Amino acid sequence: MFHFTALPPLALYIHLPWCVRKCPYCDFNSHEARGDIPQDKYIEALLRDLEWDRPRVEGRPIQSIFLGGGTPSLFSPEAVARLLAGVWTRLPVAQDAEVTLEANPGTVELERFRGFRQAGINRLSIGIQSFEPEKLRALGRIHGPEEALRAAQAARAAGFENFNLDLMFGLPGQTVEQALADVRTAIELGPTHLSAYQLTVEPNTLFHARPPKLPDDDTIWEMQQAIQDLLAESGFRQYEVSAYARPGYECRHNLNYWTFGDYLGIGAGAHGKLTDPGGITRLWKLKRPDDYLAKAGARAAIGGEQRLTGRDAAAEFMLNALRLKEGFSKSLFPERTGLPVAEIQSALGLAESRALLDVDALTVRPTALGYRYLNDLIGLFL
Ligand SMILES: C[S@@+](CC[C@H](N)C(=O)[O-])C[C@H]1O[C@@H](n2cnc3c(N)ncnc32)[C@H](O)[C@@H]1O
Ligand code: SF4
Repeated sequence: MFHFTALPPLALYIHLPWCVRKCPYCDFNSHEARGDIPQDKYIEALLRDLEWDRPRVEGRPIQSIFLGGGTPSLFSPEAVARLLAGVWTRLPVAQDAEVTLEANPGTVELERFRGFRQAGINRLSIGIQSFEPEKLRALGRIHGPEEALRAAQAARAAGFENFNLDLMFGLPGQTVEQALADVRTAIELGPTHLSAYQLTVEPNTLFHARPPKLPDDDTIWEMQQAIQDLLAESGFRQYEVSAYARPGYECRHNLNYWTFGDYLGIGAGAHGKLTDPGGITRLWKLKRPDDYLAKAGARAAIGGEQRLTGRDAAAEFMLNALRLKEGFSKSLFPERTGLPVAEIQSALGLAESRALLDVDALTVRPTALGYRYLNDLIGLFL
């Protein structure tokens, strides 16, 4: 049923699951570190895990690597260096590969950033969230505004020309002007990339159990528009729902997800997606760090595996690609799903008739209305 002309580009995601403290809004697979993190043991487990995955991607070069968390900046530069050296000796990594590490401002200083750079990290993503003390407290963050400022300055001083700052908006009690003030401060710090996430209340978080009072929908919509305008005026192009970049600095690793590329996922709870000539497989690893540490490198470390049906593949492609502001070229659909465009033709027509999509011979692009009601648009393809 599937027909692929070529395999998609391949990326590598590495999950480092520990944090100093669990933030009350966070539903990532992150765990409060009680005592020392078993850094050496975990790096060994990651490399065993990679060995186990390796036969599935033999010969395919890795285009980007992303060390996400949790809080990867809790690991020492030496541990990160060992990890990356281990990756480089096991897999072909493209010479110009983007290699990102996520950092929490409460865990960094200049020397550490210098060490990460020497280890082979060439892009940082720093979780700022806000520069207002009161908002940072409400979010249960381990850092204040000074550390957030210092982290961005240290990134530059350590020679990271390419770095992202994560901000959140729609925070408890936040006004449009306060949200804009955060964005202005972030821009002044000279990042190449900004992520502005609307705070969402996720199940299984403290915020879900005890919801804070958030701004109403209209205010949040106004914030989103104002942030977009300010960033556009400042030279940051929005290319995805929450992602803004200076030209040429779009995050290649995330773009690979949104264009339905392939990726290996190693580490506790990490997800992978791999294409072979017969179809597409999703695979995820055991979620709890202790279980993962004990089992990594064997089939027992697999939390689950799923072979996608044609319907799954088409829906997942659209779920990702419609997040892109400029949409996607039509030829990408058969290239990445192995299915003919006919598979989504009737949904494309329906979305077009509701003015949610612009479709021409070559491209598919959400209209302004489609982008505003993205969930409804995506729903037509599920
Ligand atoms: C893994 S964290 C980044 C690194 C580090 N753990 C930190 O928090 O500083 C990924 C990012 O996701 C965003 N995020 C997490 N939970 C969120 C939520 N419930 N709503 C909106 N954004 C969220 C935050 O901006 C956060 O920086
Ligand atoms: S530091 Fe980051 S990953 Fe850890 S709990 Fe907070 S938001 Fe989640």
